[in-house]
Amino acid sequence: MTVDNEIIYLDNNATTQLDPAVIEEMLPFLTKYYGNPSSGYGFAAMARKAINLARERLAALLGCEPTEVVFTSGGTESNNAVINSALQLEARGGHVIASAVEHSAVLRPCQDLAKRGCAVTFLGVNRHGDLDLGELEAAIRPETALVSIMWANNETGVIFPIEKIAEICRQRGALFHSDAVQATGKIPMRLRDTAINFLSLSAHKFHGPKGVGAVYVDRRTRFGPLIAGGGQENGRRGGTENVASIVGLGKAAELALKYLTEGKFNIRSMRDRFEKSVLETVNGASVNGAGAARLSNTSSLSFEGIESSAALLLLDRQGICCSAGSACRTGSQEASHVLRAMNPTGDDARRSLRFSLGRFNTEAQIDRAIEVVPKVIEKLRQSAAPTPVAMAL
Ligand SMILES: Cc1ncc(COP(=O)(O)O)c(C=O)c1O
Repeated sequence: MTVDNEIIYLDNNATTQLDPAVIEEMLPFLTKYYGNPSSGYGFAAMARKAINLARERLAALLGCEPTEVVFTSGGTESNNAVINSALQLEARGGHVIASAVEHSAVLRPCQDLAKRGCAVTFLGVNRHGDLDLGELEAAIRPETALVSIMWANNETGVIFPIEKIAEICRQRGALFHSDAVQATGKIPMRLRDTAINFLSLSAHKFHGPKGVGAVYVDRRTRFGPLIAGGGQENGRRGGTENVASIVGLGKAAELALKYLTEGKFNIRSMRDRFEKSVLETVNGASVNGAGAARLSNTSSLSFEGIESSAALLLLDRQGICCSAGSACRTGSQEASHVLRAMNPTGDDARRSLRFSLGRFNTEAQIDRAIEVVPKVIEKLRQSAAPTPVAMAL
């Protein structure tokens, strides 16, 4: 930790700080307006109206109709719900296509399907992290029920050309889903002008609360619930609504749209300054996905001669929060499947760190990171270097 105990939070792809304005809007729904939105009296209508407003605000961010929004418990549930629905309702059959670099919330359900005998194609990426769209098109079969490709990668920030991919799927008659958990609030969207059938998002990635998200379901596309129960969400997701969190999601969406439109926060310039400085100061450092379009907040850096787990420990002592690959993998011994897919013979997967910025980061925090990161890498390299005695042996 730093002397003044300041945390420098550079792990915004793992989760983000709640915006104070979001908390303020949520609080009355945890205290005063506790009615069940499905109840018939006026008191409960407060909660119902608040959910409707959240739906409108999220629809405005996504560029879709409010009726196309289904609230869920987050990105993981949204992804699972779409895969489940497409396979149950799609007459075309039981083949699914996903990229090899999807988040585990898509990969795992697809791997489970494969174990149950469903045909699943995982598409590889090149060393920049890009997909070959010709390969994707060729993989679509008459029985393909769903193509699921993330909008932006959580580890490298690499952005896929989702509108183009959706169009290819439409032309080939396959349903298309995008896990947009990392893209929502960072990339402008007008879903009504795209061929996307389903899209998943999660509030805690854009300064909203954890445990709440949504699926966009195009109004012409059939969708069956993963969680069956009461008729909530127009029969598309059973269970009493998480009112305060949905309110928080709505407010976070409103703020995200405002900042996207105004371009008020210059996250890209902070990220670029950080990246440029580290690349200039540290020999043997490179950007994962440098040759591809990337999210403006993400910097995935590979450092020769280090182990990312050791770097994380030293950075943590300096109060810097970042991660090796995704947060979900921290603590596991498994190296990043994303970096391995980009460079199967290299060891980037073991020596990379992901820094992801958000709108609460300051220039002073970036200055501090620029000072600390090269020192940590240098220290690790020194401790790994063989001593003269060891060399003599
Ligand atoms: C790309 C992507 N998809 C899905 C998820 C899971 O979202 P949630 O934490 O809301 O379940 C994450 C979270 O890290 C993610 O980055």
